Amino acid sequence: MLDFVVVALVLIVPILIYSLFSVKCCHRFVVHRNLQVLLGVVLLVAVGLFEIDLQWVQGGWKNVVAKRDVALNEEALATVTRILRIHLVFAISTPILWGATIGLALRKFARPPQPGPHSGLHKVLGWLSTMDIVLTSVTGLVFYYFAFVAKY
Ligand code: HEM
Repeated sequence: MLDFVVVALVLIVPILIYSLFSVKCCHRFVVHRNLQVLLGVVLLVAVGLFEIDLQWVQGGWKNVVAKRDVALNEEALATVTRILRIHLVFAISTPILWGATIGLALRKFARPPQPGPHSGLHKVLGWLSTMDIVLTSVTGLVFYYFAFVAKY
Protein backbone atom coordinates (compact mmCIF):
# COMPACT_ATOMS: atom_id res chain seq x y z
CA MET A 1 0.00 0.00 0.00
CA LEU A 2 2.84 2.35 0.89
CA ASP A 3 4.39 1.67 -2.52
CA PHE A 4 1.05 2.42 -4.23
CA VAL A 5 0.90 5.81 -2.48
CA VAL A 6 4.50 6.54 -3.53
CA VAL A 7 3.56 5.84 -7.16
CA ALA A 8 0.49 8.11 -6.78
CA LEU A 9 2.69 10.89 -5.31
CA VAL A 10 5.11 10.62 -8.24
CA LEU A 11 2.31 10.60 -10.85
CA ILE A 12 0.51 13.64 -9.43
CA VAL A 13 3.18 16.13 -10.45
CA PRO A 14 3.25 15.46 -14.25
CA ILE A 15 -0.58 15.33 -14.40
CA LEU A 16 -0.76 18.63 -12.52
CA ILE A 17 1.79 20.23 -14.86
CA TYR A 18 -0.19 19.01 -17.89
CA SER A 19 -3.45 20.37 -16.42
CA LEU A 20 -1.96 23.82 -15.73
CA PHE A 21 -0.27 23.84 -19.14
CA SER A 22 -3.71 23.13 -20.74
CA VAL A 23 -5.15 26.26 -19.06
CA LYS A 24 -2.22 28.62 -19.56
CA CYS A 25 -1.19 27.74 -23.08
CA CYS A 26 -4.39 26.59 -24.77
CA HIS A 27 -7.33 27.74 -22.63
CA ARG A 28 -8.61 24.18 -22.41
CA PHE A 29 -10.71 24.82 -19.31
CA VAL A 30 -12.78 21.62 -19.50
CA VAL A 31 -9.63 19.45 -19.69
CA HIS A 32 -8.22 21.38 -16.72
CA ARG A 33 -11.42 20.97 -14.66
CA ASN A 34 -11.69 17.24 -15.40
CA LEU A 35 -8.03 16.56 -14.58
CA GLN A 36 -8.20 18.54 -11.33
CA VAL A 37 -11.35 16.76 -10.17
CA LEU A 38 -9.80 13.39 -11.16
CA LEU A 39 -6.63 14.22 -9.23
CA GLY A 40 -8.73 15.21 -6.21
CA VAL A 41 -10.60 11.87 -6.27
CA VAL A 42 -7.39 9.83 -6.81
CA LEU A 43 -5.70 11.67 -3.95
CA LEU A 44 -8.62 11.15 -1.61
CA VAL A 45 -8.84 7.41 -2.38
CA ALA A 46 -5.03 6.89 -2.23
CA VAL A 47 -4.62 8.76 1.05
CA GLY A 48 -7.76 7.12 2.56
CA LEU A 49 -6.56 3.59 1.72
CA PHE A 50 -3.07 4.46 2.89
CA GLU A 51 -4.25 5.72 6.29
CA ILE A 52 -6.52 2.68 6.82
CA ASP A 53 -3.63 0.36 5.95
CA LEU A 54 -1.00 2.21 7.98
CA GLN A 55 -3.01 2.95 11.13
CA TRP A 56 -5.35 -0.05 11.39
CA VAL A 57 -3.62 -2.88 9.55
CA GLN A 58 0.06 -2.13 10.28
CA GLY A 59 -0.46 -0.33 13.60
CA GLY A 60 1.44 2.88 12.72
CA TRP A 61 4.58 3.82 10.82
CA LYS A 62 6.94 2.87 13.66
CA ASN A 63 5.77 -0.74 13.34
CA VAL A 64 6.56 -0.71 9.62
CA VAL A 65 10.00 0.80 10.28
CA ALA A 66 10.64 -1.85 12.95
CA LYS A 67 10.36 -4.53 10.24
CA ARG A 68 13.42 -3.16 8.39
CA ASP A 69 16.37 -5.55 8.08
CA VAL A 70 18.54 -3.10 10.02
CA ALA A 71 16.64 -1.16 12.71
CA LEU A 72 16.90 2.67 12.83
CA ASN A 73 19.13 4.03 15.59
CA GLU A 74 17.80 6.76 17.91
CA GLU A 75 19.29 9.62 15.92
CA ALA A 76 17.86 8.31 12.65
CA LEU A 77 14.45 7.84 14.28
CA ALA A 78 14.53 11.44 15.55
CA THR A 79 15.41 12.72 12.04
CA VAL A 80 12.63 10.68 10.44
CA THR A 81 10.11 11.95 13.04
CA ARG A 82 11.12 15.56 12.25
CA ILE A 83 10.67 14.95 8.52
CA LEU A 84 7.26 13.39 9.19
CA ARG A 85 6.11 16.46 11.17
CA ILE A 86 7.07 18.76 8.28
CA HIS A 87 5.33 16.41 5.84
CA LEU A 88 2.16 16.42 7.96
CA VAL A 89 1.88 20.24 7.82
CA PHE A 90 1.49 20.00 4.04
CA ALA A 91 -0.37 16.68 4.00
CA ILE A 92 -3.12 18.00 6.31
CA SER A 93 -3.52 21.45 4.72
CA THR A 94 -3.58 20.08 1.15
CA PRO A 95 -6.96 18.26 1.21
CA ILE A 96 -8.59 21.28 2.91
CA LEU A 97 -7.19 23.76 0.36
CA TRP A 98 -7.76 21.36 -2.53
CA GLY A 99 -11.40 20.75 -1.47
CA ALA A 100 -12.07 24.49 -1.13
CA THR A 101 -10.47 25.23 -4.54
CA ILE A 102 -12.50 22.55 -6.33
CA GLY A 103 -15.74 23.25 -4.42
CA LEU A 104 -15.64 27.00 -5.13
CA ALA A 105 -14.55 26.50 -8.76
CA LEU A 106 -17.39 24.06 -9.47
CA ARG A 107 -19.93 26.44 -7.92
CA LYS A 108 -18.64 29.80 -9.18
CA PHE A 109 -17.37 29.19 -12.72
CA ALA A 110 -19.84 28.90 -15.60
CA ARG A 111 -20.59 25.48 -17.15
CA PRO A 112 -18.59 24.69 -19.19
CA PRO A 113 -15.90 26.60 -17.24
CA GLN A 114 -14.72 29.98 -18.55
CA PRO A 115 -12.73 32.82 -16.95
CA GLY A 116 -15.09 35.04 -14.93
CA PRO A 117 -15.50 37.01 -11.67
CA HIS A 118 -14.14 34.02 -9.69
CA SER A 119 -10.88 33.94 -11.71
CA GLY A 120 -8.86 36.19 -9.34
CA LEU A 121 -9.57 34.16 -6.19
CA HIS A 122 -9.29 30.88 -8.10
CA LYS A 123 -5.80 31.73 -9.37
CA VAL A 124 -4.61 32.49 -5.81
CA LEU A 125 -6.22 29.31 -4.37
CA GLY A 126 -5.06 27.31 -7.40
CA TRP A 127 -1.40 28.28 -7.06
CA LEU A 128 -1.48 27.78 -3.26
CA SER A 129 -3.05 24.31 -3.75
CA THR A 130 -0.44 23.51 -6.38
CA MET A 131 2.46 24.48 -4.09
CA ASP A 132 0.89 22.57 -1.19
CA ILE A 133 0.42 19.33 -3.13
CA VAL A 134 3.94 19.51 -4.61
CA LEU A 135 5.42 20.03 -1.12
CA THR A 136 3.25 17.18 0.23
CA SER A 137 4.54 14.98 -2.53
CA VAL A 138 8.22 15.94 -2.14
CA THR A 139 8.28 15.74 1.67
CA GLY A 140 6.33 12.43 1.53
CA LEU A 141 8.95 10.95 -0.78
CA VAL A 142 11.78 12.27 1.43
CA PHE A 143 10.08 10.63 4.44
CA TYR A 144 9.65 7.36 2.53
CA TYR A 145 13.34 7.39 1.59
CA PHE A 146 14.69 8.11 5.09
CA ALA A 147 12.22 5.82 6.89
CA PHE A 148 12.25 2.79 4.61
CA VAL A 149 15.09 2.92 2.08
CA ALA A 150 18.17 4.77 3.45
CA LYS A 151 20.92 2.70 5.04
CA TYR A 152 22.22 4.16 8.28
C1 HEM B 1 -7.58 21.89 -6.78
C2 HEM B 1 -7.98 21.99 -8.03
C3 HEM B 1 -7.51 23.09 -8.95
C4 HEM B 1 -6.29 23.70 -9.00
C5 HEM B 1 -5.05 23.42 -8.16
C6 HEM B 1 -6.37 24.69 -10.07
C7 HEM B 1 -5.34 25.53 -10.43
C8 HEM B 1 -5.46 26.57 -11.33
C9 HEM B 1 -4.45 27.57 -11.56
C10 HEM B 1 -3.10 27.64 -10.83
C11 HEM B 1 -4.94 28.43 -12.49
C12 HEM B 1 -4.27 29.72 -12.99
C13 HEM B 1 -3.37 29.54 -14.17
C14 HEM B 1 -2.82 30.93 -14.50
O1 HEM B 1 -2.03 31.46 -13.70
O2 HEM B 1 -3.19 31.45 -15.55
C15 HEM B 1 -6.24 27.96 -12.89
C16 HEM B 1 -7.04 28.55 -13.83
C17 HEM B 1 -8.33 28.17 -14.09
N1 HEM B 1 -9.02 27.11 -13.53
FE1 HEM B 1 -8.33 25.87 -12.10
N2 HEM B 1 -7.63 24.65 -10.62
C18 HEM B 1 -8.35 23.69 -9.98
C19 HEM B 1 -9.66 23.31 -10.22
C20 HEM B 1 -10.46 23.88 -11.17
C21 HEM B 1 -11.83 23.48 -11.44
C22 HEM B 1 -12.58 22.35 -10.69
C23 HEM B 1 -12.29 24.30 -12.44
C24 HEM B 1 -13.64 24.37 -13.10
C25 HEM B 1 -14.78 24.13 -12.51
C26 HEM B 1 -11.21 25.21 -12.79
C27 HEM B 1 -11.28 26.19 -13.75
C28 HEM B 1 -10.30 27.09 -14.06
C29 HEM B 1 -10.44 28.18 -15.01
C30 HEM B 1 -11.70 28.54 -15.80
C31 HEM B 1 -9.22 28.85 -15.02
C32 HEM B 1 -8.84 30.09 -15.84
C33 HEM B 1 -9.04 31.33 -15.01
C34 HEM B 1 -8.63 32.56 -15.79
O3 HEM B 1 -7.61 32.51 -16.51
O4 HEM B 1 -9.29 33.57 -15.65
N3 HEM B 1 -10.11 24.92 -12.01
N4 HEM B 1 -6.54 26.84 -12.15
